[in-house]
Amino acid sequence: MTGSRKDKIILQNLTVSYEEKGGLFTALDDISFGVADGEFVSVIGSSGCGKSTLLSVLEGLLRPSGGSALIDGAPISGPGPDRGVVFQSYSLFPWMTARKNVAFGIKHARRELKRAEVYRIADEYLEKVGLSDSRGRYPSRLSGGMQQRVAIARALAMDTDILLMDEPFGAVDAKNRVQLQEMLLDLWGHEARRKTVVFITHDIDEAIFLSDRVVMLTESPGRVYRDIHVPFPRPRDRSGLLGSSVYVEFRRDVTALFFGDKTGETEDDWVKI
Ligand SMILES: Nc1ncnc2c1ncn2[C@@H]1O[C@H](COP(=O)(O)OP(=O)(O)OP(=O)(O)O)[C@@H](O)[C@H]1O
Ligand SMILES: [Mg+2]
Repeated sequence: MTGSRKDKIILQNLTVSYEEKGGLFTALDDISFGVADGEFVSVIGSSGCGKSTLLSVLEGLLRPSGGSALIDGAPISGPGPDRGVVFQSYSLFPWMTARKNVAFGIKHARRELKRAEVYRIADEYLEKVGLSDSRGRYPSRLSGGMQQRVAIARALAMDTDILLMDEPFGAVDAKNRVQLQEMLLDLWGHEARRKTVVFITHDIDEAIFLSDRVVMLTESPGRVYRDIHVPFPRPRDRSGLLGSSVYVEFRRDVTALFFGDKTGETEDDWVKI
């Protein structure tokens, strides 16, 4: 998958090291994979394996120590309005209301829009994430899950070509999580024009349900362990798919790969990772 012509994002032998007292700590080692234009790729791996580090590189906040990270064939040199980001710790501006936080993101990415239009879109996306009634609240008066939904609304309302999401539904309750997954797939777009998504999660069902591919990293230092094509056609019907025997089998294989142990555990032992 590396370096094909239609790849929007290309990671080529990417290595990232952090400076530590005693020397360098390698967080990511020799990562190579591409993400095609309009593709939805999930990245899974154990805590500390370098997933957020990978996303920071794609966002342009962290430079590769070795290898390269390219968007549209050019090295990523910093954050850009082509990328909407949901961080693992949903970073909202504390001095802005939920509505202003979303509007700020829209203004940043879509400078051509007039003020009234920016706020109309902000309200539309806050409604989509179920927060119309809380739009005038400051982040300190929202729960963690609500703050995360504001951050999701902001990233999606920016309507960027690329979406980078770091465990975006981690602090969201199960019911909202399902709704947000559906919303994300809806806003991801339709065949003619789809966003390119890199989505980090700990949840194997979430990764499979949403993605075209699941890239599994090894434990630290993160390397690509498996790059798995998800074979299920779209649109995907959640209850139909998750209850099907092909899904159960596929999920069992992915789970076994993740834990490196194909024996001894029943499927229900690994609902979440
Ligand atoms: N700024 C930093 N300086 C030094 N080491 C760091 C820094 N940021 C992360 N690390 C280390 O790099 C490794 C990867 O961290 P990272 O946050 O990318 O992991 P992760 O896969 O996102 O984990 P989690 O699933 O818990 O979010 C960890 O060992 C972490 O301690
Ligand atoms: Mg992380």
